[in-house]
Amino acid sequence: MITDVLVLNGPNLGRLGIREPDVYGTATLEDLAETCRATGRQLDLHVEVRQTDDEAELIRWVHEAADARTPVVLNPAAFTHYSYALRDALAMRTAPLVEVHLSNPAARESFRHTSVVAGVADGTVAGFGLLSYQLALQAIADLAARQGPGTVPPDTVDQETVAPETVQTPQ
Ligand code: DQA
Repeated sequence: MITDVLVLNGPNLGRLGIREPDVYGTATLEDLAETCRATGRQLDLHVEVRQTDDEAELIRWVHEAADARTPVVLNPAAFTHYSYALRDALAMRTAPLVEVHLSNPAARESFRHTSVVAGVADGTVAGFGLLSYQLALQAIADLAARQGPGTVPPDTVDQETVAPETVQTPQ
């Protein structure tokens, strides 16, 4: 069975190739998209790659993915570090989510050390350039096979619905 996957990219990633090549490499967004589609073909994933500089548009795509139960690989770019609106949208997800970064934010400026998105993702791959995306797609393929669509992230489970522990009363 072929699984649809959205690979979503945030602000300034449309400038790949000319954007700080010492940090992000020389591959363009189109190179990235072709690598993702090729990796998807090997994994039985139908991959659609999108990029936007607009927070509202990115959030609309996240809503679309939640409604369609589509797994997402997301490079939120700078939104990673401060967009609570994006995080709240991602918290409504209904399928696997992997956060991805070309560079390793943990090894860069301190403002990049916080991800407000990481807590609602299944996991994060960072620091490997285009390989980060390939590894993320591998993780999505594995998660989709194990969990199927309709996954609810662990920290959005309503604690009230969790069965209470049995209390042993003395006889
Ligand atoms: C990035 C890392 C972010 O800190 C930065 O704002 C980006 C790209 C990455 O892929 O390495 O735009 O997400």
